[in-house]
Amino acid sequence: MSLIPDSFIAELKYASDIEQVVSAYVRLTRRGRTLVGLCPFHNEKTPSFTVYPEEGHFYCFGCGAGGDIITFIRRAENLDYVEAVRLLAERAGLNLPEDERDEAGRWKMRLLECNRAAAHFFHDTLASPAGARGLRYLRSRALGDGTIRRFGLGYAPAGWDALTGFLRTKGYSREELIEARLASSGRKGDGCFDLFRDRVMFPIIDVRGNVVGFGGRALEDGGPKYLNSPDTAVFKKSRNLFALEKAKGSKSSSLILAEGYMDVIALHQAGFTNAVATLGTALTSEQTSLIAKYAEEVILSYDSDGAGQKATRRAIGLFAQTGVRVRVLHMEGAKDPDEYIKRFGATRFKMLLEGSRGAVEFEIERLRSGFDLETAEGKVGFLGEFVRLMAGIPNAIERDVYIRRTAGEVGVSPEAVEERVRLERKRQRSGEERRQQRDLKMYAGAGAVAAKADPERERNLRFAVAEERLLSLIMRRPEELAYIAARIRPEQFVTSRNRRLYSALCTLLEAGRPIEALSSVVEMEDMAYLTGLAAANAAVRPQSGEADDYIRTILSHEKEKTREELVGMNDADWAQWLTSARRKS
Ligand code: UTP
Ligand code: MN
Repeated sequence: MSLIPDSFIAELKYASDIEQVVSAYVRLTRRGRTLVGLCPFHNEKTPSFTVYPEEGHFYCFGCGAGGDIITFIRRAENLDYVEAVRLLAERAGLNLPEDERDEAGRWKMRLLECNRAAAHFFHDTLASPAGARGLRYLRSRALGDGTIRRFGLGYAPAGWDALTGFLRTKGYSREELIEARLASSGRKGDGCFDLFRDRVMFPIIDVRGNVVGFGGRALEDGGPKYLNSPDTAVFKKSRNLFALEKAKGSKSSSLILAEGYMDVIALHQAGFTNAVATLGTALTSEQTSLIAKYAEEVILSYDSDGAGQKATRRAIGLFAQTGVRVRVLHMEGAKDPDEYIKRFGATRFKMLLEGSRGAVEFEIERLRSGFDLETAEGKVGFLGEFVRLMAGIPNAIERDVYIRRTAGEVGVSPEAVEERVRLERKRQRSGEERRQQRDLKMYAGAGAVAAKADPERERNLRFAVAEERLLSLIMRRPEELAYIAARIRPEQFVTSRNRRLYSALCTLLEAGRPIEALSSVVEMEDMAYLTGLAAANAAVRPQSGEADDYIRTILSHEKEKTREELVGMNDADWAQWLTSARRKS
């Protein structure tokens, strides 16, 4: 939670014109009370991104992104809450209250210092007798002293308190070590012990140069091979990339995306200083937008095994929404870039990079490998898939190149394939339009995007819809919250997500905080969900007595539930229910 005062957030929102702020990212056109444009968070050709200036919300009917102005800046600039507020404050010419900023910042600063001290400890240990094992290991992986220094690699000794003991003497408290996730609390009492033991250590450094976490590799088999710092107040794995702070300084306009720490380090050592990796998790859309900030092109260099190829296809999909050009490295004779460079050398790897194929070629190759092109059925099957793939490529010249080449290889006339692609494009386009129409109707009806696949919602549809309408009303008319809160308690909500969010709203109300503070207490997805609900009903003017109808519907669940329960009760429960019911009346 942020420590910025609500009064400041309210002032900030008042001072920031959402239309003006969003216009810096999206070309908006007015449509009645709203503004629409092409969504900056996903790829689209017809505008479904909508700004509601009166409510101060935005919502995209295509991808479900939504929220207030702070959520917008967080997503657009890939910032955390406080950073987004700071940026907006600068734009609006407001000064962030100094001491508040300090209090939030001081704690984070302390954790960062703690991490930095730990990194120094690991690195120094590597050079000492206690680190001989670690150094031997890194040397066995062909890392030179310069590389070890540049990446600040280190060694965490095997004992239980080497780091903890060191940091305690440096004045860091047990709580700080635990919050930085360098130590775990002991099972009993007030002890704590090192999280990383007998591992070579890879510090994770963010783009500002802070040590935000660590990866640690075991020296021997058995136990997890890599251990990564969990997320902390200063570290979000899904928003960082290993070595990005080094790669962003390389002159190249492309980034190499690999799977592992060792791949990246080996690549840098071989001169490919534009390599980065995810941190032991699958690629996220936050990471692809981060890459989009620094590069025009990404070269996927995942492992050559099945998992790596699957990850490659997934990555291609994620990057398709960012405008970053994708190429795919095709590695044979080695499992990953580290191994490849060791086996064949940097020059061969460079040739590999230069010969790396585009995402489309990768996909054609993949399709082709699924069919036997020696047979007629194989050809027909492959061409069917190929036509579908081509139909999705917007650029006609690019399509033409692939169609001619592939038709030639399969031995059919390019004109015939072209005609099929044309028909498929027509078919896909009308399908797309129908889908959008249908979706729009659905949003205008009951729920939002996120609510679509929720089994709890399906089971309790009538109540869930009433809850959604009620939440939507509160989002559009926050002044009604007090009236509503006096008539229905969060526990009386039927579905869990709506209950949780209604509870967050009631908590704000009780604390006397304005609704402007909502985005500081709920997750971004929840903000998107809530503004989605508001957006779905934006065209409908709130009616008097509307809230009462929804409340009545939700409360009727309790009666229904009781009836159901009574049917299934055994005699003892039944007797007890009777007595308690009698007492109540
Ligand atoms: P790999 O298993 O491909 O290992 O994991 P690697 O990078 O080739 O490592 P070396 O060469 O054996 O040292 C790829 C990445 O997946 C994450 C790490 O980020 C690793 O770099 N990973 C792997 C984990 O987080 N935990 C594990 O136990 C294994
Ligand atoms: Mn490896």
